[in-house]
Amino acid sequence: RVHEHDWRQSGGPGWNVLLGRLDSFTSSKADAENLPGPFDGLDVLRAKFRNATLDDTTDLVALSGGHTFGRVQCQFVTGRLYNFSGTNQPDPTLDATYRAFLSQRCPRNGDGTSLNDLDPTTPDNFDKNYFTNLEVNRGFLQSDQELKSDPGAAGTTAPIVDRFAGSQEAFFSSFVTSMIKMGNIRPVTDPSQGEVRNRCAFVNSN
Ligand code: HEM
Ligand SMILES: *[C@@H]1O[C@H](CO)[C@@H](O)[C@H](O)[C@H]1NC(C)=O
Ligand SMILES: *[C@@H]1O[C@H](CO)[C@@H](O)[C@H](O)[C@H]1NC(C)=O
Repeated sequence: RVHEHDWRQSGGPGWNVLLGRLDSFTSSKADAENLPGPFDGLDVLRAKFRNATLDDTTDLVALSGGHTFGRVQCQFVTGRLYNFSGTNQPDPTLDATYRAFLSQRCPRNGDGTSLNDLDPTTPDNFDKNYFTNLEVNRGFLQSDQELKSDPGAAGTTAPIVDRFAGSQEAFFSSFVTSMIKMGNIRPVTDPSQGEVRNRCAFVNSN
């Protein structure tokens, strides 16, 4: 089977995966709308994690570290570049040099689907640089930078960002714990309710 992302191939940690988990035959618009979004504030992100039986500090920060690699479309940053929260100003928690770089790649009326690296430092490596980026206001998404810069982050998520920025071991260890927890949220195990998909994004009958 081909995996779209292989954490270990990119330098990330591994863990044992429980057998018997199935992919669903269906998808749910309502569930999709419950997912955390890139423009959610810290309080909303925390509430959504709690509602999903994850904790609203360590799990939130560790799992957001998945943004240490991969790509993201311009449409998710143009608000931060040109008109943050309707102010017609950029997001003040976005580093000026990084903003100038992103403005070149994502012009105001450009193609909102153009792709960018989530982690401009080491775009294809699974490492702690997602967190070192947040330390210098180089998070791509609002939902990324909030973990460090939201006024409510000081006593909650920011100290965890700091800890992971300082220790890749601490990040990897929490990431594994949180991935296992996330994988245990209502898994489908009844074969009448699911299957092992040959291609992640399609049911096998397609
Ligand atoms: C905390 C809430 C999260 C939000 C708001 C969020 C949001 C997003 C957004 C908007 C994108 C870009 C999609 C696009 O441009 O088409 C993205 C990409 C990505 N996310 Fe997240 N995400 C979250 C959590 C996670 C978690 C928990 C993981 C994994 C542990 C993860 C891993 C990734 C990866 C690997 C990509 C890049 C995909 C690719 O290159 O094709 N994200 N995320
Ligand atoms: C909480 O999660 C459940 C699914 O477990 C979902 O049906 C519900 O809409 C969620 N509530 C909120 C406020 O996100
Ligand atoms: C900036 O955002 C506000 C609120 O969403 C909107 O009313 C306004 O038209 C936007 N300004 C520009 C120049 O697009």
